Amino acid sequence: MNKILFREHIAPGIFHMKVEAPEIAAKRKAGQFVIIRHDEEGERVPLTIADADPKAGWISLIVQEMGYSTKRLGQLRAGDTLADVVGPLGVPTHIEKFGTCLCIGGGVGVAPLYPIAEALQAAGNETVCVIGARNKELVILEKEFKKIFKETHVCTDDGSYGFHGFVTQKAKEFLDGPRKIALVVGIGPVPMMRAVANLTKPYGVKTVVSLNPIMLDGTGMCGACRVNVGGETKFACIQGPEFDGHQVDFDLLTKRLGMYSVQEKQCTCAGGS
Ligand code: NAD
Ligand code: FES
Repeated sequence: MNKILFREHIAPGIFHMKVEAPEIAAKRKAGQFVIIRHDEEGERVPLTIADADPKAGWISLIVQEMGYSTKRLGQLRAGDTLADVVGPLGVPTHIEKFGTCLCIGGGVGVAPLYPIAEALQAAGNETVCVIGARNKELVILEKEFKKIFKETHVCTDDGSYGFHGFVTQKAKEFLDGPRKIALVVGIGPVPMMRAVANLTKPYGVKTVVSLNPIMLDGTGMCGACRVNVGGETKFACIQGPEFDGHQVDFDLLTKRLGMYSVQEKQCTCAGGS
């Protein structure tokens, strides 16, 4: 059982919680994730670790209430407990001194981007961050990004705040600019990560995306998180979640993510599991 130490609503349908998990907080590295369960019968929900404090023993998770299970998680409050938190899982982000790194986050993908951009900056890279959402209300972690990254650019699809347009439109300005971009990291919804990969390909810039397929065991045994990268089958839970964006089969990822949409809808409407 893992206690929720803190819980706050940060945008419509999005909440942040700090969960007691001292061993995970001590071990986790940028890019890794956990799988959590609301209760013994609950669905296993993979979530990237947005932040952690090894001294205080907590990890920070940002959750978008999308389906039955994440809506149930949204009803929990500080003091409540989760049945379990398994992790840290996945291969940590490859961090080295690349040069100028362009970190692009869309919607809730801004949360998993944060520790990666932080680690890249700590390794001596110049870090340019572009974060975006559909509108001003849905922009998350702006203060946290601006506190750490000198260059944080906020975008909204409807122009209600910051740059008017998709994160890819703003990112293009940097790819066309005078600085040589050595690495792009793009995290967000699948159409956005596909658009980031398509954008950077003609520039020949190494592009990392963090995939979010359906996951069950998180140990490479069940095959649920199967993705195709460069013509090869990979299990995102043990070989990812980060992959070369130019090699990912985004059509297959989209198809597999929609596999249980009918059951998910039935479940949400019925309020059952
Ligand atoms: P959203 O649909 O509101 O999009 C967020 C931003 O991404 C937009 O403001 C825009 O700037 C950009 N974007 C979206 N579509 C684009 C396109 N076609 N071209 C260029 N840019 C585009 O995002 P949301 O509602 O936060 O996304 C929810 C989805 O993201 C869920 O399916 C969730 O599973 C997924 N997600 C993925 C990760 C991950 O690790 N990859 C993390 C969290 C959430
Ligand atoms: Fe089962 Fe990856 S979640 S193999």
